[in-house]
Amino acid sequence: MITTLLRPLRMGPIRTSTRFSYLTFAALAVLLFTGASLYLFPTSFTSEHRPSTWGVLHEAPGDHPIDNLVADANTQWRSLLAQESHDIHAASARYRQLRGRHPPPGFDQWFEFARANDAVLVEEFFDQIYHDLSPYWGLEPGELRKQASGQSPRIYVRNHNATAVGRAGPHWEDSWLEMIQGVAKYLPDVDVPLNGMDEPRVIAPWETITEYVQRDYASREMGNASEVVGEYMTLVDPKVEAPEVFKGPFGNQGVWNMARAGCPGDSPSRDSDMPAPMDFASPPGEFENYRRMSEEGYVKNWTLAKDPCYRPELQALHGSFIEPITVATSTELIPLFGGSKLPINNGILIPPAMYWADDPLYSGGPDHGEDWSKKKDVFFWRGLASGGRNRAETWTGFQRHRFVSMINSTQVALALANDSHAVNFRLPDSEYYRLESARAGQLPEFLNRSSDVAFTGLACHPNTHEPFCDYTDAYFKTQPLMPMSEMYPYKYLPDIDGNSFSGRYRAFLLSTSLPIKATLYNEWHDSRIIPWAHFVPMDTTYMDLYGIMEYFLGFNGQGGHDAMAKKIALDGKSWAEKVLRKEDMQIYVYRLLLEYARISDDRRDGLGYVGDL
Ligand SMILES: *[C@@H]1O[C@H](CO)[C@@H](O)[C@H](O)[C@H]1NC(C)=O
Ligand SMILES: *[C@@H]1O[C@H](CO)[C@@H](O)[C@H](O)[C@H]1NC(C)=O
Ligand SMILES: *[C@@H]1O[C@H](CO)[C@@H](O)[C@H](O)[C@H]1NC(C)=O
Ligand SMILES: *[C@@H]1O[C@H](CO)[C@@H](O)[C@H](O)[C@H]1NC(C)=O
Ligand SMILES: *[C@@H]1O[C@H](CO)[C@@H](O)[C@H](O)[C@H]1NC(C)=O
Ligand SMILES: *[C@@H]1O[C@H](CO)[C@@H](O)[C@H](O)[C@H]1NC(C)=O
Repeated sequence: MITTLLRPLRMGPIRTSTRFSYLTFAALAVLLFTGASLYLFPTSFTSEHRPSTWGVLHEAPGDHPIDNLVADANTQWRSLLAQESHDIHAASARYRQLRGRHPPPGFDQWFEFARANDAVLVEEFFDQIYHDLSPYWGLEPGELRKQASGQSPRIYVRNHNATAVGRAGPHWEDSWLEMIQGVAKYLPDVDVPLNGMDEPRVIAPWETITEYVQRDYASREMGNASEVVGEYMTLVDPKVEAPEVFKGPFGNQGVWNMARAGCPGDSPSRDSDMPAPMDFASPPGEFENYRRMSEEGYVKNWTLAKDPCYRPELQALHGSFIEPITVATSTELIPLFGGSKLPINNGILIPPAMYWADDPLYSGGPDHGEDWSKKKDVFFWRGLASGGRNRAETWTGFQRHRFVSMINSTQVALALANDSHAVNFRLPDSEYYRLESARAGQLPEFLNRSSDVAFTGLACHPNTHEPFCDYTDAYFKTQPLMPMSEMYPYKYLPDIDGNSFSGRYRAFLLSTSLPIKATLYNEWHDSRIIPWAHFVPMDTTYMDLYGIMEYFLGFNGQGGHDAMAKKIALDGKSWAEKVLRKEDMQIYVYRLLLEYARISDDRRDGLGYVGDL
């Protein structure tokens, strides 16, 4: 139970329509970079060679890239809030404007439910639903229903009552059933097949998804109000007539190969000249690709930073691509609901069962931490060495191992003495990141006093004598498991992917501490929480780790941004209390299932809500 919960989950959708060409991106990046360098450096400057004036430039206030990222994020937050809908007319109009159809039948009741539960109603908060569901317009409704009703585990709703069939994860079906049962009285008949594994399991080829999404666009129309149908079809009760079993075309054709098939044809990860999987024992170091897409080394576009299609280097830097614990992937589009997915995955996101269950051991329960001023100036992390099946030959690529190593002062001191190389990381360019601690020759000491990070178990494979591990014992000292509430006395809480997303993230957001989030996974809430306004995004290469630490903590009492850290932590907390409540999960799942029921309905093109017209 504990190990499972400490392992993160994963999931991910693809929105072909929002993908942009790599060439466009590269051209833009070059333009932006050239522009920035001309502005900052009137003399010659390239991304490879920083002039020695770099360190002087940042003395001016407001000149650090993070200052700008935070300012932009707050602007984005304000403009999102300005989109709030206060009545059914505004909500329906906004819906038609963004989605190109009438809202689904029952939209008015849904809106009332959301209002009665004090929801902040911004149509963009539901973007993920449309991103996830769009390709399913490419399948025939009858086919979709057959695939959904034949799977186990699943939840089905008949006559406004929900029932669970089969087992998912450590009793996830109980949480999901509770979540859906709470709104079942408003729902049409529907079958919700559940992914019972940590790992997301649907990746159809990008070309197929593109075609399906085009069918969605082609079928969008605003039918004449007098002809719109307001009633969903009813479905057969499985107790009366057992559905035909659908096992799904689940298999394993190599994780990276399956992943890159989900990438746009012109993206770097699809490029046939790309080198085969990298040598895990010699970690990539310069990460020029990340530099180009970042704001001077810090995450600028969170969607892009998480996208393996534009970051082929991630295949050697994340357990999800090296060796997941379970691989049972469908390369055909089939309906499957789960808590997280990678950007290349299809499938449908619902709020994770772990967020709903809210187990005090993993959420801290009612305790969200004490006053900021009483907390320690420390980056704190405990967790299992999960992320997939780590082995003697491959552990050096795993994201949690790399993180725990890079923040370990002893390993960093050894790397400094070894031309910046360690067995599983390379140090970032300290001039590029303007690291005062490194300039003073004190990076290890700085890390030593600013962090408390350790594994709680090494999760070796083969696992012969836990808690020990032949090949990683020399690098890591394990510490006991710790309940979430004991992590809150620390100001900074890094959160790193495990086998998929990290189930503690919502609790971290709701705490008085500041989450430092590194992930490749998408979740239901992604369009409602804003990087740099509600949490601090960190790249999965961790090239920005020391820069983030120094920006907030300062070095030798100078240059820190404690007040800003506190503001992001508390803004994130108060925002999460408004938009990540259990009520918000239910409002999301209610809306999702109306849409899903419409797509699964034989009359889907004629169904809609037009009561406001
Ligand atoms: C609703 O479904 C549950 C199973 O989830 C069942 O125990 C209960 O009897 C059902 N209630 C009604 C009113 O059918
Ligand atoms: C909508 O339907 C009504 C009645 O069938 C008809 O009079 C009207 O012309 C239609 N409007 C459009 C825009 O088709
Ligand atoms: C971020 O990157 C995505 C592609 O991954 C792109 O669609 C989007 O427009 C970018 N956002 C911004 C603000 O540049
Ligand atoms: C870290 O700090 C401890 C004392 O708190 C000290 O014993 C140890 O040598 C330090 N390690 C490094 C690498 O600075
Ligand atoms: C020193 O660096 C090399 C790569 O240049 C690496 O293979 C080796 O593991 C490093 N040694 C230590 C002790 O980290
Ligand atoms: C830090 O690294 C050293 C050297 O590899 C290792 O002995 C020690 O156990 C590590 N500390 C932790 C907390 O993992």
